[in-house]
Amino acid sequence: MCGIIGYVGPRVAHAVVVEGLRRMEYRGYDSAGVAVITAEGISLRKKAGKIANLDALLATDPIPASGTGIGHTRWATHGGPTDVNAHPHVSSNGRVALIHNGIIENFAVLRAELQAQGVEFSSETDTEVAAQLLGEGVAAGADLADAMRSVCRRLEGAFTLVAIDSTQPGRLVAARRNSPLVVGVGEGENFVASDVAAFIEFTRQAIELGQDQMVDVTADSITVTDFDGAPAASHPFEVTWDLSAAEKGGYDWFMRKEIFEQPKAVADTLLGRFTPDGALTLDELRIPEAEIRGVDKIIIVACGTAYYAGLVAKYAIEHWARIACEVEIASEFRYRDPIITGSTLVVTISQSGETADTLMAIRHAREQKAKVIAICNTNGATIPRESDAVIYTHAGPEIGVASTKGFLTQVAACYLLGLYLAQVRGSMYDDEIRHVMTELAATPPLIQQVLDSLDQITDLAARFVDTKSVLFLGRHVGYPIALEGALKLKELAYLHAEGFPAGELKHGPIALVEEGVPIFIVVPPQGRDQLHDKVVSNIQEVRARGALTIVLAEEGDEEVVPYADVLFRLPKVSTLLQPLVATVPLQMFACELATLKGYDVDQPRNLAKSVTVE
Ligand code: AGP
Repeated sequence: MCGIIGYVGPRVAHAVVVEGLRRMEYRGYDSAGVAVITAEGISLRKKAGKIANLDALLATDPIPASGTGIGHTRWATHGGPTDVNAHPHVSSNGRVALIHNGIIENFAVLRAELQAQGVEFSSETDTEVAAQLLGEGVAAGADLADAMRSVCRRLEGAFTLVAIDSTQPGRLVAARRNSPLVVGVGEGENFVASDVAAFIEFTRQAIELGQDQMVDVTADSITVTDFDGAPAASHPFEVTWDLSAAEKGGYDWFMRKEIFEQPKAVADTLLGRFTPDGALTLDELRIPEAEIRGVDKIIIVACGTAYYAGLVAKYAIEHWARIACEVEIASEFRYRDPIITGSTLVVTISQSGETADTLMAIRHAREQKAKVIAICNTNGATIPRESDAVIYTHAGPEIGVASTKGFLTQVAACYLLGLYLAQVRGSMYDDEIRHVMTELAATPPLIQQVLDSLDQITDLAARFVDTKSVLFLGRHVGYPIALEGALKLKELAYLHAEGFPAGELKHGPIALVEEGVPIFIVVPPQGRDQLHDKVVSNIQEVRARGALTIVLAEEGDEEVVPYADVLFRLPKVSTLLQPLVATVPLQMFACELATLKGYDVDQPRNLAKSVTVE
């Protein structure tokens, strides 16, 4: 949500800034803007809608070349997505331009205070109070950095702020609380951004800013302090992926590219997990084994797709490690006053590592003395930083708003965690763990096999372009797959889609089944007969009521054939690992259907990739 970039250096700032905004488009936004410092002061262009609208404005009303600029893509919270509410905001005295990601919770009080002093506001945003306060501060003679720190001390809520002062070309200041900010360290030029994708074209050297830190940036210097001005330690790191990983590489959509990257993403996530003597190791896990042995309950908290990965994890962890495991939507977690003790292990799952609901759940859990393990795809993001330990998924950058490789790698990481817990607690023999690990390590080519067998999916999608509702059924780990399949369709194709536990259908939802309604059914592998046979009965139940059945079943499962109107074959894997192969056709179906309907697959309406507000 909201992309932020600032640049100081010899290049044409607005060109660097607009390109950086383009690379952060995936975060979700509904307006965009840029401001630079010129000899005449701040020069500003901003426009509601996509970056293309800003491009058009810049073409008809060019902005002067400058070496200092800031830019922003806004996802509206306070005030609609209009030109006026778009960022940057310039203080009414014209001194500063400022951009913001997050929500300033005490903006109403500050706005009233400033208005009482005669300051005139031009937008409805919470952000403008920060711009006005900063403008007042520098106009009263404060140094830009001092003024920024004093603004930050007055703000409550979540914010990343970046500002420039018209009287100080070649300098910008930025600050963060509860919202991401990274510095890109170049040679004779520097960047600040919400995300390394914004400057990866120019440098892979980055600095992650900590909570309540501010950075003062020129082309040759980077000074990090806390909000009181004391020098602060920051976290330098090197970005391990390059520009090509953040580009489409010949695919029409990032999402499609990311679906096809899943075999590699899962393989990378599983890589290097054994010690030379054959024990499973999670290097990043700094929680002592004695503490892990003492865990009496696990609570997994996450949102959206990551939550569904958590539902898969519950089956695996309870089965392998024999620890009771609850899974909770992160935004609900702290409000129900969950029972947490020092023996509770909280596991959070987040692709971005910046999801505000998940972050707040972590904070609540840690206040209650629980240990927190994060499963995350983004190195150095806030969630892993605020957790006791982290297992990184190695999916590479996920740009499409709809999570695909993020999900599969989260599931893979959950399996690793489940097996590791089993190893430490002795609930499985070593050879049993090795057996599952061997099977897990064999899944990437099987995922590839599924990808190679999806020829019929475009034709299938074409049959449902006018469909209003699609249902998904599954049992056991097939249930979270059904939920994920439905979510993908809602997000991308904007149609009613729901996932159900197959056995629950007869308790109500079966009333939705009518002639021709498409129902995807995930059939478990055949070994566990009861489970398999029950789902085969469920297929018959819906087909008898006119449903069009689209069945996902493993190779060699002939029992489903008479009841499948459409049949997708899945490679043979054990039941617990089936999500790694069964999710793929559902992702692809949603991608194809949305493409056929002419929708923007990478940036579906109203959605943001990184949901940094609660
Ligand atoms: C998935 O397709 C979504 N766009 C969304 O549900 C996402 O998984 C959720 O917002 C959690 O994001 P996170 O993994 O970055 O925390």
